[in-house]
Amino acid sequence: MSQGYRTIKLNQKQHTAWITLDRPDKLNAINEIMLEELSEAIDILEEDANVRCVVIAGAGERAFSAGADLTELRKLTPETAKEFSVKGQQVFSKLEDVSKPVVAAIVGYALGGGLELALACDFRVAADNAELGCPELKMGFIPAWGATQRLPLIVGAAEAKRLMMLGERVQADEACKMGLVDKVVPLKELEAEAEALAQRLCELPPAALKHVKVAVNSVTKVSPDGLKKETEAFVRLFSLKETRDKIGDFGSQRNKK
Ligand code: COA
Repeated sequence: MSQGYRTIKLNQKQHTAWITLDRPDKLNAINEIMLEELSEAIDILEEDANVRCVVIAGAGERAFSAGADLTELRKLTPETAKEFSVKGQQVFSKLEDVSKPVVAAIVGYALGGGLELALACDFRVAADNAELGCPELKMGFIPAWGATQRLPLIVGAAEAKRLMMLGERVQADEACKMGLVDKVVPLKELEAEAEALAQRLCELPPAALKHVKVAVNSVTKVSPDGLKKETEAFVRLFSLKETRDKIGDFGSQRNKK
C-alpha cells in the first residue's frame, strides 16, 4: 500500500484499508495537503480490488478532526475561498461515491470540516468521548465542504439548522439519538468496533454492496446546485472584513486560554 504521506497514514488489515488522519498535535485539522493526500488515497483504494472496505479514523484519542485548518482559513481571500470550498466538496463527493463501503470511526472532536468528512461516509461509529458540531457560524461563515447539503439529509432540516445556525456541539449519545452516528461504544472499544463492522462488510458480496450503495446514493445525492450555493455563500462571507476579523479573534482567544 502506498506510503510517504505527510498528513495521513494508509494501512491495510486483510481486506480493510484504514486511512488515519495524522496531525494529532493539531487535532487532525484538515489542511490543503491533507485534502490532497485524502484525494490520492481514495483514488488508490477505489482501484485496489483487494480492498473491500475503508475505515477513516483520527490519530490519538482527542479528535477525529477539529475541522479545516484555521491557519489556512485565516488567509483566505474571496478569490481563494472559492477554490478552498470547491476542492473540499470534490474530495468529499469522491469519497461518498467510492464503490466500497466507508466507515468513519469517530473519536473526540468531529467539528466543522471534520464532521463534513464523516458525513460523506456510509457508516459512523463513535467513541463515548465524541463531540460533533459545526462551529463555523460563530466565526461569521458557513460550512463549505458539503454539510449544508448532507447534514439535513442525514438528521433532517430541523436538527441540521440547530447544529449549523446555533453552532451547538452534541455529545456522542445525543448524536446517536438524532441519527448523526449509528452506534456509540466506549473509547477503548472504538477500533475493535470499526474493525468488526468492516469485517462484516468485507464478507458480504462486493458487487451487491456496490450496487445498493449507488442506488441509495441516487436518492440522497447532494445536488450540484446546492453545493454551488454553499460555495457562493462562503465566498460572499469571506469578502467581509468582519468574517476575517472574527476568525482571527477566535484563534487569539483560544490561544489566551
Ligand atoms: N485548525 C488548526 N489548528 C487547530 C484546529 C483547527 N481547526 N483545532 C485545533 N487546533 C490546534 C490548536 O491550535 C492547538 O495547537 P497548538 O497546541 O499548536 O496551539 C491544538 O490543536 C490543540 O487545540 P486546543 O485548542 O489547545 O485544544 P482544546 O482542548 O483547548 O480545544 C477545540 C479543542 C476543538 C474545542 C478547539 O481546538 C477548537 O475550537 N478548535 C477549532 C474548531 C473549529 O472551529 N473547527 C472548524 C473550523 S472550519
